[in-house]
Amino acid sequence: MNIGNTDISAFGSRIATHDRFSPETKIYVAGHRGLVGAAIVRRLEREGFSSVITRSHAELDLTSQAEVNDFFARERPDFVFLAAAKVGGILANSSYPADFIRDNLLIQSNVIDAAWHHDAKKLLFLGSSCIYPKHAPQPMKEEHLLTGPLEPTNEWYAVAKIAGIKMCQAYRRQHGFNAINLMPTNLYGPGDNFDLETSHVLPALIRKFHEAKERGDAEVVVWGSGKPRREFLHVDDLADASVFLMRGYDEEEIINVGVGEDVSIAELAEIIRGVVGYEGDIVFDDSKPDGTPRKLLDVGRLNALGWKARVGLKDGISETWRWYVDHGQGNQG
Ligand SMILES: NC(=O)c1ccc[n+]([C@@H]2O[C@H](COP(=O)([O-])OP(=O)(O)OC[C@H]3O[C@@H](n4cnc5c(N)ncnc54)[C@H](OP(=O)(O)O)[C@@H]3O)[C@@H](O)[C@H]2O)c1
Repeated sequence: MNIGNTDISAFGSRIATHDRFSPETKIYVAGHRGLVGAAIVRRLEREGFSSVITRSHAELDLTSQAEVNDFFARERPDFVFLAAAKVGGILANSSYPADFIRDNLLIQSNVIDAAWHHDAKKLLFLGSSCIYPKHAPQPMKEEHLLTGPLEPTNEWYAVAKIAGIKMCQAYRRQHGFNAINLMPTNLYGPGDNFDLETSHVLPALIRKFHEAKERGDAEVVVWGSGKPRREFLHVDDLADASVFLMRGYDEEEIINVGVGEDVSIAELAEIIRGVVGYEGDIVFDDSKPDGTPRKLLDVGRLNALGWKARVGLKDGISETWRWYVDHGQGNQG
């Protein structure tokens, strides 16, 4: 197999088959209180993994190299899911660019290096679709990485994520460390962030429609024209893909994780209105910016490996709304 001009088939053969991921192995999920980390822990528990190690941010600050090294020296996990990161929307990224680039570079460098140094068998790093160029052809393929300028609003975060990808690839080449890179699309699901200042579009719309229904509002205003198209993957599907790839994917190339289909914001708003049972009107405020017309991942490589997303958008939204009603309403910035 070729990456650029390099034949990497030799690297795969360094990975011993007896080191396979199984319920007896010791797993560390970094970032287990986050949307993704919590879904991975749920998934592992359901499969009977009995040795899943977690530490909260307060117990282990992953930006501290000394703390991370001590933790790995003591615990020596076999497999590592790196789902801890400093994550946020446009406002947070543009207000705190130094924090975004610093924290993410430190977290990923500390964890990847310590995992290798303390003989972990494999590490799964989570990137994001924002690593692709702003004007990448749609749907975006893995080979579009580093082919053009990034979206400026979150380039600090994206540059850190690209460094994480390259670090995994470099450790594989130099040390034979089995580190793999997943690029998920926009995620949603139980545990999502419903704070209107910092949340993504899908949970924000769930909250807006829910509150409008409770108050009996005549209309809900949705920012933009409603025309941009976006892809949404349920976080349980991402957890499923992560376990699938931890079990069977040992390549240097990055791999997209998505649904392979998108919806317009207007279609999304209509689905959410139906799920929530709101009977008023939807009004699009096209004085607000639309952003990129389309952002869709090409998931052909992942599909060819035998994995497909399973959670339908309507069902996933319904479950997420239920979660919001039961747990999420404390989270109302
Ligand atoms: N959400 C999405 O739509 C999406 C899409 C594509 C890719 N991803 C990727 O998936 C990964 C997880 O995202 P997420 O949505 O699950 O984020 P999240 O909900 O914000 O969770 C991130 C977790 O990392 C922890 N963390 C942050 N800084 C830490 C530190 N210095 N030490 C220890 N723990 C720290 C956080 O703990 P505290 O909250 O206590 O700080 C939190 O539990 C990220 O790499 C992200 O790029 C997410």
